[in-house]
Amino acid sequence: MASSSIHPSRLTKPFSLAIFLVIVSCSTHYLMVAAGEVSTAGDDKAMRERYEKWMAEQGRTYKDSTEKARRFEVFKSNAHFIDSHNAATGPGGKSRPKLTTNKFADLTEDEFRNIYVTGHRVNYRPTSLVTDTVFKFGAVSLSDVPPSIDWRARGAVTSVKDQHLCACCWAFSSAAAVEGIHQITTGNQVSLSVQQLVDCSNAANEKCKAGEIDKAYEYIARSGGLVADQDYPYEGHSGTCRVYGKQAVARISGFQYVPARNETALLLAVAHQPVSVALDGLSRALQHIGTGIFGSAGEPCTTNLNHAMTIVGYGTDEHGTRYWLMKNSWGSDWGDKGYVKFARDVASEINGVCGLALEASYPVA
Ligand SMILES: *[C@@H]1O[C@H](CO)[C@@H](O)[C@H](O)[C@H]1NC(C)=O
Repeated sequence: MASSSIHPSRLTKPFSLAIFLVIVSCSTHYLMVAAGEVSTAGDDKAMRERYEKWMAEQGRTYKDSTEKARRFEVFKSNAHFIDSHNAATGPGGKSRPKLTTNKFADLTEDEFRNIYVTGHRVNYRPTSLVTDTVFKFGAVSLSDVPPSIDWRARGAVTSVKDQHLCACCWAFSSAAAVEGIHQITTGNQVSLSVQQLVDCSNAANEKCKAGEIDKAYEYIARSGGLVADQDYPYEGHSGTCRVYGKQAVARISGFQYVPARNETALLLAVAHQPVSVALDGLSRALQHIGTGIFGSAGEPCTTNLNHAMTIVGYGTDEHGTRYWLMKNSWGSDWGDKGYVKFARDVASEINGVCGLALEASYPVA
């Protein structure tokens, strides 16, 4: 999709209806404020200026003034949340995430969930392509792996992608992990076709609604591999499979799961290659995050594994906080140029922050 702007007319029907109902209440509220509180509107004026500036920066337009007024109310609420989060001190210290009015600043939490955080479906059925039930990196000693690694610096990570309105994080996550092992084993960095996964992978995946990372690996292994993204580009919606006659460039033989609830095992895997993870992506702080380490300040989230990302590194920041470096599929204009750091080895989080240590997996070349 060419445009990165979110426009409600492109959302699903039930969602549009929900928006319509909110429009009525929010726009009424806005009109009352505009008409009756002129003398105390100082803050609102500053907020309105901030909103106009943000709209200009984002190139955001709305279909009419009612919609704009409604979006202003959402922006205002998000801006208050962002400002109070950034002003707070406490857990996390200097590693605390810094939130910012990014491109999602005019979306409510519900809208954000419906568009961006529904793409991963938990799969407890064993698949037949688990390469070996013995964890491949289980015999590696922690002292044999580097204290930090960034697969981007080693050329194993392609450019950040944007899933737009197709909730196929599962496909971006598995493709990024395959791009990683492909570059590590062949030396070639190639963006692989996520559209092929969306259109062609087996029926257990619900294409743009939700999917399973392991089923994607299974498809890649069984079908002969993924073609290059440039040969089968991303469209942001599902279509018929058009892979025939195209040349696969990256193959895998299968995949493995990282032992669950074990961030040491996860680190041993990431030390060898990028790893797919499922996690709870529904967090107001994550929606608006810029830099810093998510989870270091105890930002609330659950272990509902509704989103997928790819871990492409780990390390310790200059304040001593351990992190995972994650590649997301919300565009390079979200987070830290499309990436986000999640707190690692948090003592109170046996499942990993937001459940990220529950269902990690990686392709086997
Ligand atoms: C975590 O994984 C490592 C590496 O495989 C293993 O040595 C360790 O025993 C595991 N810890 C637990 C609690 O299972």
